[in-house]
Amino acid sequence: MTSARTALGVDVGGTGIKGAVVDLGTGALVGDRHRIPTPQPATPEAVGQTIAEIAQSFSFTGPVGVDFPGVVLDGVVQTAANVDDSWIGTSLPETVGHFLPGPSAYLNDADAAGLAEVTYGAGRGKRGTIIVVTFGTGIGTALIHDGHLVPNAELGHIEIDGADAEIAAAGIAREREDLSWEDWAARASRYLQALEALLWPGLFILGGGISKKPEKWVPHLKTRTPLVMAELKNHAGIVGAALAADEAARA
Ligand code: BGC
Repeated sequence: MTSARTALGVDVGGTGIKGAVVDLGTGALVGDRHRIPTPQPATPEAVGQTIAEIAQSFSFTGPVGVDFPGVVLDGVVQTAANVDDSWIGTSLPETVGHFLPGPSAYLNDADAAGLAEVTYGAGRGKRGTIIVVTFGTGIGTALIHDGHLVPNAELGHIEIDGADAEIAAAGIAREREDLSWEDWAARASRYLQALEALLWPGLFILGGGISKKPEKWVPHLKTRTPLVMAELKNHAGIVGAALAADEAARA
């Protein structure tokens, strides 16, 4: 039996939708994580049903947070760089809220990861400006100052050499273009240097799929800003979504 404060977090990604109950005192998962492959095409109806299935698979009642790989304003999806275009304009609370076992909150996936890292992980207790960057299918970013998140910072889409930075420097670009780790790291460096020049962060926290093998590329990075790896790894989205739900429920 646990008396810990808990919330359910659901992380919506391009390949998988994952959920778990989170102990908000420690940021640890309570019990198992449940993952279902993202239905294809990833339409709002199909993804909504999968979110519902995951949420209902836990015998949990209480706040539920759902993160999404696009801009989310007041629960409404505004962009869909790496998911089905039909998401644009879709209200997450209207699509899935009634399936969930408690009050719900919705936010961008990188923002969820950022909240988790500054609360329980690599950014815990740190002041100043931190940028959390997730290199995966896209580039997700969370902009945090003195522990406060500026939501929906879409810094993965800044323009470098006349093109959307995400196209050249997302984790997936390495596989797509069959780049060596060193060549991909050069692109990641250029991207991080562009962020440094614009925002002068005190710390980068790096995560996303490519952070599973940091030894391959992190030694090649050249930035003036200190950088550390994300600590919550695969669970950052789930944990941050749960945290956002708890905060919203208590506001
Ligand atoms: C989206 C962001 C998202 C990131 C990571 C980008 O393409 O625009 O909203 O956080 O991918 O999923």
